[in-house]
Amino acid sequence: MIGLMQRHYSMFDYIFLGIDQAIRTLDHYPRTTGRSYPAKDIPEQILTESQRQHSAGLMRVNHAGEICAQALYHGQGVVTHTPMIKAKMQQAAMEEGDHLVWCEQRLDELKSHTSYLNPFWYAGSFGIGMLAGVIGDRFSLGFLAETEQQVIKHLEKHSQLLPDQDQRSYTILQQMERDEAQHRKEAITAGACELPLVAKKTMACVSKIMVKIAYWV
Ligand SMILES: [Fe+2]
Ligand SMILES: [Fe+2]
Repeated sequence: MIGLMQRHYSMFDYIFLGIDQAIRTLDHYPRTTGRSYPAKDIPEQILTESQRQHSAGLMRVNHAGEICAQALYHGQGVVTHTPMIKAKMQQAAMEEGDHLVWCEQRLDELKSHTSYLNPFWYAGSFGIGMLAGVIGDRFSLGFLAETEQQVIKHLEKHSQLLPDQDQRSYTILQQMERDEAQHRKEAITAGACELPLVAKKTMACVSKIMVKIAYWV
């Protein structure tokens, strides 16, 4: 983040950075802050087959959600002209990268896979992020704040839906929820505007479709 603030980057630099970020994200090698796995000290408990499949479905949705979060931040980061906001987008995307790695590790432990549609989720979210960024910084930040608010609600719901025995997944979701709340706070502090109700409802509708599909594939 410091490097991004001190050096002047051209539009081409950001385009190549965007391509690099997309490849890294979809190739299971996102930029992260390097924080440790939240569930590392939580003992693995025995899950029935249906519990394992249910936990895996929920964590696949969360992983796909983090793909979308990364893409939204990357898309907005490419088009915004404000260096401070650009740097914040890059930093937040790295923290979403932590979430991505944690969800994927948990899916491995649950002997399952990430969503086969991840390239589609990434491309769609990147485009939406760019569009929000083009409208303007305050709208872009408002879009982020609303996204994080909806993600927090979603994580609260998923924390309740997990089998009681799956404390490892639960611990990961709890840490993610704390991070998303911080992202939301930072977007509001940076000048986010309140989005129109129709925009909020459209976002909720689109994310519901993604949740239903990613649970299975
Ligand atoms: Fe996240
Ligand atoms: Fe976030």
